[in-house]
Amino acid sequence: MPSSLFTYAPAPESRSVVTLRPRYGLFVDGEFVEPRDGSTFTTVSPSSEEVLAEVAAAGPGDVDRAVAAAARAQRDTWGPMPGKERAKYLFRIARLMQERSRELAVLESMDNGKPIREARDVDVPLAAAHFFYYAGWADKLAYAGLGPSPRPIGVAGQIVPWNFPLLMAAWKLAPALAAGNTCVLKPAETTPLSALLLAEIVQQAGLPPGVVNVVTGAGDTGAALVAHPGVDKVAFTGSTEVGKAIQRTLAGSHKRLTLELGGKAANVVFDDAPLSQAVEGIVNGIFFNQGHVCCAGSRLLVQESIADAVVEALKARLETLRLGDPLDKNTDIGAINSPGQLAKIEELAGSGEADGATRWSPRCALPERGYWFPPTIFTGVAPAFRIAREEIFGPVLSVLTFRTPDEAVAKANNTTYGLSAGVWTEKGSRILWMAQHLRAGVVWANTFNRFDPTSPFGGYRESGFGREGGRHGLEAYLDA
Ligand code: NAI
Ligand code: MG
Repeated sequence: MPSSLFTYAPAPESRSVVTLRPRYGLFVDGEFVEPRDGSTFTTVSPSSEEVLAEVAAAGPGDVDRAVAAAARAQRDTWGPMPGKERAKYLFRIARLMQERSRELAVLESMDNGKPIREARDVDVPLAAAHFFYYAGWADKLAYAGLGPSPRPIGVAGQIVPWNFPLLMAAWKLAPALAAGNTCVLKPAETTPLSALLLAEIVQQAGLPPGVVNVVTGAGDTGAALVAHPGVDKVAFTGSTEVGKAIQRTLAGSHKRLTLELGGKAANVVFDDAPLSQAVEGIVNGIFFNQGHVCCAGSRLLVQESIADAVVEALKARLETLRLGDPLDKNTDIGAINSPGQLAKIEELAGSGEADGATRWSPRCALPERGYWFPPTIFTGVAPAFRIAREEIFGPVLSVLTFRTPDEAVAKANNTTYGLSAGVWTEKGSRILWMAQHLRAGVVWANTFNRFDPTSPFGGYRESGFGREGGRHGLEAYLDA
């Protein structure tokens, strides 16, 4: 923390807007139901380790029930419904999300550990925006460029991770529903609560039973959903390892698949870039959401002539970041989502030191309870180091340098991933040249981590395939 005469008084957002139930069931066929075998797990607040609720763990019998409900609804109500009628339900969900936005944001921050400022200003409004956007497509599918009368695929099994629990649920549900599919959603085991609140909103919006189902549980629940013969389409966001396992399971089946996996994005800063703007972009690129971001700018590639100045400015900026209570409105860096993820970050950061990189963090006290990792920068990183190659998925930046644009491209593309990249320069022609040569699904110019429902998002290589968002996002849920 900077030595300043003025400090920030605590400014916690009130939890009173959220009513936690001690126990949550599964959302199947329009109702909250008990799991068949009665298994449960707990979800905790990563910032305090407080147990927030007990949540049903869906077994294969529960998944079967949910898929059967989805198939019935697809056949009898949602599939035959005119697009303009489906649109009304999606608009209703979007408006209810806005009405209940504080509740959603506080709950998301509690269950995930992310700063309330981010949940409130990014996750929740963007999630609602996806429902608004795809509601607009529901009666215009014939004009999506996918043939004159595209048809829904059927039942979508959708598995989402813990880094943006509500937003990823919206990315999956909104286009699927707009296209006339029905859904079985499986949230991550450390962050099930916002999806269950969304299920309540789905109920409140009066969707026909079975159109949206939520089965909570861990990887085995996800695997049962993937393997279920009644599922026609699988959409997965998560680790590359699990993505590959899913692809193996589905090989040779009728099921369609889209995968949104990991990343190791290069954020490339040229010597003519507006420096203070670039520093803000670097910070946003890697420290947003504690770096639990698949498209995080985790490799800073900075032109050699300005490397020292950039690193110095970056360190000064990091000294001003506030780490702590996620519900405090002034918090910039929240908690690491789980002990498992913290151990992974610690192990990889340790390897960076062992490989010979120089590790730096601002002076910042970590709270005693909960899972925490300080914002960290590694300089003197060689491309062969693990911290330059493997996804850390935490608040850790590896700094590398380059001399020429060709070298920047070669280093940026020297990865098994290909999800996103950033370019910072004043030259428009250089932005276009870089965008042509970077093998990444998204290239941001003089900004980073910017999202919009109208813009497609997705990867190359081991970052997965298929696009979410925009008109392209409909393609995954329609048969031409
Ligand atoms: P994960 O891939 O195990 O979890 C993601 C989701 O998949 C969760 O809902 C989980 O329950 C489910 N799942 C797990 N095993 C499954 C299986 N065999 N079949 C079907 N579903 C399954 O990711 P995890 O272990 O939480 O994180 C490990 C690493 O993965 C992170 O450190 C990060 O590098 C990467 N990751 C990338 C994400 C992204 O947004 N692309 C999101 C989360 C993790
Ligand atoms: Mg949790």
